[in-house]
Amino acid sequence: MRGDKLGFVICVWFLFMYESCLCKFVVEKNSLKVTSPENLRNTYESAIGNFGVPQYGGTLSGSVIYSKTNQNACGNFTDDIPSTAKKPGSRPVFFLTDRGDCYFTYKAWNAQNAGASAILVADDRPEHLITMDLPKDDENFDYLQNLTIPSVFVTNSLGVSLKKALENNELVLVNLDWTETLPHPDERVEYEFWTNSNDECGPKCDTQIDFIKNFKGPAQILERKGYTRFTPHYITWFCPEEFVSSTKCESQCINHGRYCAPDPEQDFSQGYEGKDVVVENLRQACFYKVANESGKPWVWWDYVTDFATRCSMKDHKFKKDCADEVVKSLGVDIKKIDECMGDPKEDVENAVLKAEQQAQIGKGVRGDVTILPTLVINNRQYRGKLDKKAVLKAICSGFKETTEPDICLSDEIETNECLDNNGGCWMDTVANITACKDTFRGKVCECPIVQGVKFVGDGYKHCEASPPPRCQVNNGGCWKSTKDSRNYSACIDDHTEGCECPPGFKGDGINSCEDINECKEKTACQCSNCKCKNTWGSYECSCKGNLLYLKEHDTCLSKDVATSGGWGFAWAVVLGVAAFGVAGYTFYKYRMRRYMDSEIRAIMAQYMPLDNEGEVPVYGSHGDI
Ligand SMILES: *[C@@H]1O[C@H](CO)[C@@H](O)[C@H](O)[C@H]1NC(C)=O
Ligand SMILES: *[C@@H]1O[C@H](CO)[C@@H](O)[C@H](O)[C@H]1NC(C)=O
Ligand SMILES: *[C@@H]1O[C@H](CO)[C@@H](O)[C@H](O)[C@H]1NC(C)=O
Ligand SMILES: *[C@@H]1O[C@H](CO)[C@@H](O)[C@H](O)[C@H]1NC(C)=O
Ligand SMILES: *[C@@H]1O[C@H](CO)[C@@H](O)[C@H](O)[C@H]1NC(C)=O
Repeated sequence: MRGDKLGFVICVWFLFMYESCLCKFVVEKNSLKVTSPENLRNTYESAIGNFGVPQYGGTLSGSVIYSKTNQNACGNFTDDIPSTAKKPGSRPVFFLTDRGDCYFTYKAWNAQNAGASAILVADDRPEHLITMDLPKDDENFDYLQNLTIPSVFVTNSLGVSLKKALENNELVLVNLDWTETLPHPDERVEYEFWTNSNDECGPKCDTQIDFIKNFKGPAQILERKGYTRFTPHYITWFCPEEFVSSTKCESQCINHGRYCAPDPEQDFSQGYEGKDVVVENLRQACFYKVANESGKPWVWWDYVTDFATRCSMKDHKFKKDCADEVVKSLGVDIKKIDECMGDPKEDVENAVLKAEQQAQIGKGVRGDVTILPTLVINNRQYRGKLDKKAVLKAICSGFKETTEPDICLSDEIETNECLDNNGGCWMDTVANITACKDTFRGKVCECPIVQGVKFVGDGYKHCEASPPPRCQVNNGGCWKSTKDSRNYSACIDDHTEGCECPPGFKGDGINSCEDINECKEKTACQCSNCKCKNTWGSYECSCKGNLLYLKEHDTCLSKDVATSGGWGFAWAVVLGVAAFGVAGYTFYKYRMRRYMDSEIRAIMAQYMPLDNEGEVPVYGSHGDI
């Protein structure tokens, strides 16, 4: 099984290589200007790391330091970092570090924690600039999402010069400049996002869908107002001729081996198959095409987020009928989409997927697209964290001066998603009741509560008023009584039937419940020195002297002891919860690791035929070296 799988991957990879590569990988750069010392004054090139937040469109000046004890930044920075690095209001400090020994991201994380405003990584060998990438093995490094300083890679020779100047105790000042990183020729930004409908590939897939959900608001505003032209894209492969009728190609491909995607679970015998993913990718591409033709390309964002929410693989709803419901709720013509998709079983080409395969090949300054997700802005590959603000900043830097939309000038953005087509949610137009709730990140479809009446349903297609709680009608046929302005009832709303006397009462619950005399029956207030008084439905117990009655323990305590006892109990609870949490987390990490080791790597191996092992000259580097 394993061998077969590998064979398939390699075949596809080879064909893909011959067809569209020698894979072209483009290193995206920013400029680095040294303003001090005098003898190094010049502008140099540096490469933007594929993590953290590059300051697209902006500049950042700071002084450079180089640690004596932690030159590769693989450990904590300690004593030899000037305390000014951490003082607010002081000049930003850039940490110069050496390449090697640990992940690039880890160096940046250590530098950020020590107060660095940016990290400069100096190459350890003379060569072209490379792109510092995320750790290769798809580990879910928790700190990555919190990594916010920009990172740049500089050549070995610049690194050597800067270190020499610092050794001579010279002040080294540097200006990092990202203003020309993206071309900004006109008042419209074109951008494309290469993604995938697969939702079972772990962190990689989660990142993509989270980004789409988060970026939907700004993306739709920009698109509606004509500031941007966005196109979604999907990567597919084709199956080598001689394997077309093999089980692998049959399960991973459509249209007779023309368009393939990897099996989501890497297990051909269960779950969804690669072709299910291709079909949904095709539907999403066709959805975009049809929506674009009707002049509303931005509805794609609604479709993709709603599909991910309503039709996930986890819920076993990743199929046509669920997709069609979503299409319908967004008011897009299903017939046109079906037409565009054609019959996946037929031995014919599909115009949309064929165009997608061609678009994978690099054009001009843009490299080939071989990695998911890939974001391309004004035909340049975006580098950095896939995060709403960071991406918005990059897009904003792609407008010609003074033509940027307001959104680029404001701090935050919010749209009422429910105003358009009711957000694709259920609605009763007569009573004017809607299931759409606008939120900061988008909208949710959730049946509402209107004037105390709870509606139930899926929130998308139907909601209906649930009948009033049964206890409201004749108290569900149960006993109830009021005395001394205290109400007791033997009806419980959560129970579908039956009656039960409330605590402190006994009886059948239907005709009668009688007060239990706790004092007489000696079920409570048994402490010595206690005074018991029965009340209706309860009892009162008091201790003699300056003592406090503890109901749960049925004892008397001095007030001081009671306080410390209470704290002891609270601490026990806190410690218990903490221990439980740690155990749960450890188990989760263990599971996550195992899951990723076996499955995700295999999947990603197919998505990333470009992992440096080939003979292709690739100016990119993953992780540690
Ligand atoms: C590095 O510093 C962090 C927080 O400051 C600390 O939790 C960690 O234990 C330190 N690691 C080492 C190896 O000293
Ligand atoms: C990242 O930031 C979040 C929110 O501020 C925090 O809860 C989390 O602990 C941070 N993670 C790490 C690894 O620092
Ligand atoms: C979307 O529509 C516009 C205008 O109708 C057209 O110029 C553009 O080529 C379309 N894009 C795609 C990918 O079909
Ligand atoms: C429906 O209710 C909303 C607010 O609850 C109101 O703004 C809107 O005008 C109402 N629409 C109609 C048709 O009554
Ligand atoms: C007891 O029930 C009556 C009506 O059945 C209600 O008016 C009153 O507010 C209730 N009192 C309490 C304390 O809940």
